[in-house]
Amino acid sequence: MHYSLSFLSVPVSSLLLLPLAVAQQNFDWGKAISRTGWNVTADSFQTGNEAAKAIDGNTSTFWHTQYGDSVAPLPHYIQVDLTKSFVVNGISYQPRQDGNRNGDIGQHTITLSNDGITWTDPVEFGNYLSDKTTKYTFFSHASARYVRITAQSEAQGAGNQWSSMAELNVYSPDTSLSGDTFAPPAPSTKGRWDATVSLPIVPAAGAISGDNTVIFWSAFRPDLFSGGTGLTETALWDPRGQAVSEKTVTDTKHDMFCPGISMDANGVIVVTGGNDAAKTSVYNPANGAWTTAAQMKQGRGYQASTTIADGRVFTIGGSWSGTRDGGKNGEIYDSPTNTWQALNGCPESVIFTKDKGGIYRKDNHAWLFAWKSNSVFHAGPSNAMNWFNVSGTGSYKSAGTRLTAPDMMCGTATMYDAVNGYILAAGGSPDYEDSTATTNAYTIKLGNVNENPKVTQVASMAFPRAFGVAVVLPDGKTLVFGGQSWADPFTDTTAALPAELYDPGTSRWTTVAPIANPRTYHSIGLLLPDATVLSGGGGLCGTGCVQNHFDAQVYSPPYLFNSDGSRATRPVIKTVSAIQLKPGSVLTVATDVAATFSLVRYGSSTHTVNTDQRRVPLSASPIGSLNYNITLPSEPGVLLPGYWMLFALNSAGVPSVATQIKVLLP
Ligand SMILES: *[C@@H]1O[C@H](CO)[C@@H](O)[C@H](O)[C@H]1NC(C)=O
Ligand SMILES: *[C@@H]1O[C@H](CO)[C@@H](O)[C@H](O)[C@H]1NC(C)=O
Ligand SMILES: *[C@@H]1O[C@H](CO)[C@@H](O)[C@H](O)[C@H]1NC(C)=O
Ligand SMILES: *[C@@H]1O[C@H](CO)[C@@H](O)[C@H](O)[C@H]1NC(C)=O
Repeated sequence: MHYSLSFLSVPVSSLLLLPLAVAQQNFDWGKAISRTGWNVTADSFQTGNEAAKAIDGNTSTFWHTQYGDSVAPLPHYIQVDLTKSFVVNGISYQPRQDGNRNGDIGQHTITLSNDGITWTDPVEFGNYLSDKTTKYTFFSHASARYVRITAQSEAQGAGNQWSSMAELNVYSPDTSLSGDTFAPPAPSTKGRWDATVSLPIVPAAGAISGDNTVIFWSAFRPDLFSGGTGLTETALWDPRGQAVSEKTVTDTKHDMFCPGISMDANGVIVVTGGNDAAKTSVYNPANGAWTTAAQMKQGRGYQASTTIADGRVFTIGGSWSGTRDGGKNGEIYDSPTNTWQALNGCPESVIFTKDKGGIYRKDNHAWLFAWKSNSVFHAGPSNAMNWFNVSGTGSYKSAGTRLTAPDMMCGTATMYDAVNGYILAAGGSPDYEDSTATTNAYTIKLGNVNENPKVTQVASMAFPRAFGVAVVLPDGKTLVFGGQSWADPFTDTTAALPAELYDPGTSRWTTVAPIANPRTYHSIGLLLPDATVLSGGGGLCGTGCVQNHFDAQVYSPPYLFNSDGSRATRPVIKTVSAIQLKPGSVLTVATDVAATFSLVRYGSSTHTVNTDQRRVPLSASPIGSLNYNITLPSEPGVLLPGYWMLFALNSAGVPSVATQIKVLLP
């Protein structure tokens, strides 16, 4: 994308009043609509700080709700009448520029209307960071003449009842800005990207916590990755509501930017390395606390890690942080004893790509999959694949190559059917940066440990994607979204907005609805317990960097819609016989309609890597009316310990909301 600053177009007479027209930031996917003639109103204003000050092009003036003798209580709104309907897809909100943070908008919603009377559900909600930088919020295309921002809290957290705003712009995806007819993609075949969730940080990492909230984190700053140490900015969101909270985590003195992430057997999230390269921190979903664990033997950043069958966490690579001496061999963490053990028999050289960036890039973001007998399968992104054995001081065995595929750095790999050993690998580029991404896709079928897997090239994606993200769905399809065709960190150039859905039944891709924001370098993706998919982040490149995406958006796949676009009726899991089970146990489930079942493990995501997610299809025996006995896979290398989402799917493939199951060690 090429950013251009276009100047507010105003009649000459107005220019006399506005000698310095304000710059408006434009994007390839959204242009600022001319504000000439707009009617702006608010529920409250202080004399001298009228609503019109938010569209006057003077960044020194601002709208402010009433203060002084009487203070109007929150919530507050400011609303513009664009004078005619446009296809709109975003706003920008510039906070007051005088250094005072009073009235900065925190928790809020954006709603739309075509008549000023009937308003949509929020097209965006969430919590803005309290600072003076302009917030850019894009949402799925919608038709609107009226746009309303409703503030529910003040961002600085002082409990004040004020709202304020220096400048407001509204964006349209229509480059001619003339307004056009609005035809959203059919949800029953393309799915739908729902409301955008604004976050007070750039979510460069995230995980589904065992309490079904999403924990996001950035680095030592909400907007910048580089140079940090000692703390991490985090945000929490419960997808069942709109509230987003923020928390600075200093307890572990660990800047957790670019870490390895793995949920262990207790469902605790183990975060390793990153800006503070040797540190380990663990997040306990039971109390929301971060605590310090033992340091790694090696400092690492951009390593990957995976939980293995016996619950330990294996990691390898990561020369982005710490030393760059080729010594980032394997090591393994045991949670119960809080100890790391070096595995020098798992040498990092076997995972190297041929990256022109050298060691700094060659050992990044390994695709690690726990498998039977405590093994770890290394599927890429190098063309070479390997088996790691974590016994003793470790050993490895080559697993052949992924046919003639080039290295697929910052591509995706997802175990969509762990019972049958199937991994889908897609996209990526030969080199980490300044490299052409591919559309290539492969399935890798694991058999016995130490044997070469069966690799099949399947249909290619429609869009080349480096820095794309893959999320496996309960029905076995994989959604891939985000990325760009020319791998270039901290740009949104050549971004792919449409998502794609891979169907293992046909080995083909379907292009589905486009996301509202580019999701390139530093973006994430997670399956949520209601069978929707979260995509967030991108950027983390410093104050005012327009590639910073302080938001996430949730996709409802086609399976959640009827052919007429209405929401499908979802099956319901009424009871389960147990919520904590060992592999091989029998689970008895009651549903409200005839159903099939699958388990998807809780995910974690950063830098295209999500080694936690995997899907286990289940076979169920009916044992009477709408009751089923499900014998879980007995192999702990297939059914890894930790939290899983149990889904029931009806005969039309519509999934239930998940019931949480914790898989215990055998
Ligand atoms: C902007 O507003 C400030 C404060 O009212 C005023 O001093 C300044 O002259 C205005 N600037 C322009 C360009 O109108
Ligand atoms: C501006 O909008 C408000 C609120 O909808 C309305 O009451 C008022 O009449 C409008 N003013 C003009 C000039 O259209
Ligand atoms: C892993 O290594 C140990 C020790 O050499 C060996 O006994 C075991 O069979 C190996 N496991 C596999 C699956 O190859
Ligand atoms: C279902 O599983 C339970 C628990 O293992 C078992 O007691 C019961 O006999 C099973 N029912 C059938 C019909 O197989």
